[in-house]
Amino acid sequence: MKVIRSIPDMRQLMSDYRLQKKQIGFVPTMGYLHEGHLSLMREANKENDIVVASIFVNPLQFGPNEDYEEYPRDEQADARQAEEAGVDVLFIPTAAEMYPKPTLMQLGITDRADVLCGRSRPGHFEGVLTVLTKLFHIVSPHKVYFGLKDAQQVAVVDALIEDLNFPIELVGLPTVREADGLAKSSRNVNLTDQERNEAIWLYKGLQHGQQLIHRGEQHPDQVVRAVTEIMQQNLSGTIDYVELLSYPSLKPVTTINQQVILAAAVYFDKARLIDNLLLDQN
Ligand code: PAJ
Repeated sequence: MKVIRSIPDMRQLMSDYRLQKKQIGFVPTMGYLHEGHLSLMREANKENDIVVASIFVNPLQFGPNEDYEEYPRDEQADARQAEEAGVDVLFIPTAAEMYPKPTLMQLGITDRADVLCGRSRPGHFEGVLTVLTKLFHIVSPHKVYFGLKDAQQVAVVDALIEDLNFPIELVGLPTVREADGLAKSSRNVNLTDQERNEAIWLYKGLQHGQQLIHRGEQHPDQVVRAVTEIMQQNLSGTIDYVELLSYPSLKPVTTINQQVILAAAVYFDKARLIDNLLLDQN
């Protein structure tokens, strides 16, 4: 596996692969890799000649009071795991490499980012869009791999690729969970033992909502109320949101009769966790 830190080196290598007609799959990450990330890399390995992964904790997508400094980092362990998962090229730029001066460009999104995490993290998706646009230009992949753990991010990236005509195919893959159901996340290490034990209720609450819908509940408000109640009873953290929206358009629905996302976010002391279920009603 090649580890590359400079943008010109990356461009040169990728243009060589392109000339050799290699199909390139790309997995962008912020590192501290776990099974969720590795599942994306393994799938990319199956479907492409060359797998590129990036590790970059993108300052632009963190708000002023968020966990940019505390975000966990372990480059050596990441490199070992990425190689085992079939990554051929690991791109690890510094913040100075990616943002040598403040960007004059501002990417915005008018829809899909004013709900869920977008509402509580102003500027977050704009930061994600900016860094991904840069990475897509640097790597020029044929396919990109994202986890549905961050389903709103997938919906936003889908709009980016479509609206700005990136010649890239987007692949969204299922959430990888711990044995007890907690969605794997780099941020789970910032939970206390008690918070870690409780955190399972994020998933259990969503599953309860799913059961209600399967049993015939059609009113989003009822589902959201029931899920919120269960989470409030079992979680010491503060609920940021519980929402049920159409997916991927992320619009409010009055009746549950199409593909919807049931999603929640909870603030713990040093970590904010998110989870969601995509429910297909067709
Ligand atoms: P990061 O949180 O490191 O996640 C990188 C990719 O791994 C994302 O596509 C995310 O959805 C996926 N992922 C994380 N946990 C997962 C899980 N439990 N199961 C399946 N997939 C999972 O998302 C980002 O980084 C950044 O916003 C990024 C896209 C790299 C832009 O900076």
